[in-house]
Amino acid sequence: MRHFLRDDDLTPREQAEVLRLARELKADPYARKPLNGPATVAIIFDKTSTRTRVSFAAGVASLGGYPLIINPGESQLGEKESITDTAKMISRIAKLIVWRTGAHERIVEMAENSQVPVINSLTDDFHPCQILADLLTIQEHKGALAGLTAAYIGDAANNMGQSYALGFATAGMHVRLASPVEYRPRADIIADAERIAAGTGGSVTVLSDPVAAVRDADVVITDTWVSMGQESEKQQRVATFGAYRVTPELMAQAADDAIFMHCLPAYREYEVAAEVIDGAQSVVWDEAENRLHAQKALMCWLLEQKEEQQ
Ligand code: CP
Ligand code: NVA
Repeated sequence: MRHFLRDDDLTPREQAEVLRLARELKADPYARKPLNGPATVAIIFDKTSTRTRVSFAAGVASLGGYPLIINPGESQLGEKESITDTAKMISRIAKLIVWRTGAHERIVEMAENSQVPVINSLTDDFHPCQILADLLTIQEHKGALAGLTAAYIGDAANNMGQSYALGFATAGMHVRLASPVEYRPRADIIADAERIAAGTGGSVTVLSDPVAAVRDADVVITDTWVSMGQESEKQQRVATFGAYRVTPELMAQAADDAIFMHCLPAYREYEVAAEVIDGAQSVVWDEAENRLHAQKALMCWLLEQKEEQQ
């Protein structure tokens, strides 16, 4: 059974198909009702969320289903019940499991013990639903994806940096990741992204200089310097990442028609200047809305795959 835990769980052809379906559903939101019943989708949060919560709840409802939201601390999962037992129980009733958690191994265990597809809605290592939404947004603003250059500036060791490497390579894009040396993506993830890029015509470049990364890029991206769970490191991180703020001067090094993206929530005057995120090149609100359309497409696709197997 297919799950979506990492960006490279979709082949290039499958990723393109999900994005095509996302465009179809954006144009005609109620065209597909695979959850008609309504069937339940369990959406579990071990960390806080605005976009993921709203977009999955609305998306499940518009596919004809019922979104069962389980907030941090509301279920037996954790101290009282194992991930394995939770997966076995929930997947007897729900049609899909969507989970935001910490260590990536946790969602792997959930998927291994689930009878229904499991979707990663953020772990410490990856945020693949966000990358699908970003790809949809780039397509809308730039046309094709293959051959475009995207520069990600900031914490490249976090879930966004690592997911951009895999997901953008899958789309045949040239992805540049600029960060302090100690905040580069994991070596095995870069190796996987390079292997994918070799097949799609894309490329992955890991570097330290934000100006070199951004030069002539079509897309400039950043994310918080302090991800959920890293709050105690804030002071040190703010000092380390100071040179990686996306400012108007940095944006001026990119292509004239470059777009700016951020998965949000954003911390103005830390990773991005207000003039950039609130300026004419920013597409962050399209990006946030596209979570809905991309995730609806993903859910339809995973349910279809499961049906075909049965
Ligand atoms: N981008 C994103 O996942 O936002 P939330 O944390 O608000 O869900
Ligand atoms: N890197 C951020 C993404 C938030 C959507 C975090 O993990 O907190």
